[in-house]
Amino acid sequence: MRIQIMAGNWKMHKTVAEAAKLARSIKKMEGVEVVLCPPFTAISSVSNAVADSGVKVGAQNMYWEEKGAFTGEISPVMLKEFCQYVILGHSERRQYFGETNETVNKKALTAFKHGLIPIICCGESLEQNEAGETVEFVGGQIHGALADMTADQASKVVIAYEPIWAIGTGKSAKPEAVNDIIRKSIRDVIADMFDESVAQAVRVQYGGSVKPDNVVAFMGQSEIDGALVGGASLKPELFMPLVEAAAKS
Ligand code: 13P
Repeated sequence: MRIQIMAGNWKMHKTVAEAAKLARSIKKMEGVEVVLCPPFTAISSVSNAVADSGVKVGAQNMYWEEKGAFTGEISPVMLKEFCQYVILGHSERRQYFGETNETVNKKALTAFKHGLIPIICCGESLEQNEAGETVEFVGGQIHGALADMTADQASKVVIAYEPIWAIGTGKSAKPEAVNDIIRKSIRDVIADMFDESVAQAVRVQYGGSVKPDNVVAFMGQSEIDGALVGGASLKPELFMPLVEAAAKS
């Protein structure tokens, strides 16, 4: 049995005061893990705001070294004071900041070394989708990101399948199609790399224009174990219905 995980990726939004206010309005519910991923500057205050609530905290990126002369970077040692999770390889980081499967893999291995669970993002572009390349492309991302992990580490990974064309566009993917892609390009690849029990243990979120009016259809799919939410995670009146839907599924 995989526990649902509903995560809010706040991206580059919210000052410290705004973040703490938003965090205090988010409640954990039975049967679903709730993770808030604020920008680095607000991680400490969000961590304080959710203390004792059962709501967890994640970062949106991380460097793979523990410390040193890496101006502008944040290390796992710094994050683990506040966070349980770290998002790695979001398509925006791949597109604008040069993130690759190799750097995602290095970061994921380091995250585990420090007790952080990586939420590894994958997903194809519209062109790749229309060319029928989704399964091969996403499969390659998974293969690269999970390289050199132990079976125990791999089984703890959270994967967020986020088709790039569905992010922030209001055009979500079709829930049945997502279910199929997760089976073929994520669970089958993990079963090949490790075994079927690892493939069945990994939690896979869908991300891309998840909203209260489409969430139930996604949470009803057998392969989908929650969502990674951008826009709708910035408003409690939009995010809490998503948490409720995951709790009920
Ligand atoms: P939206 O929910 O705004 O489409 O963003 C999805 C996303 O990128 C979450 O990481």
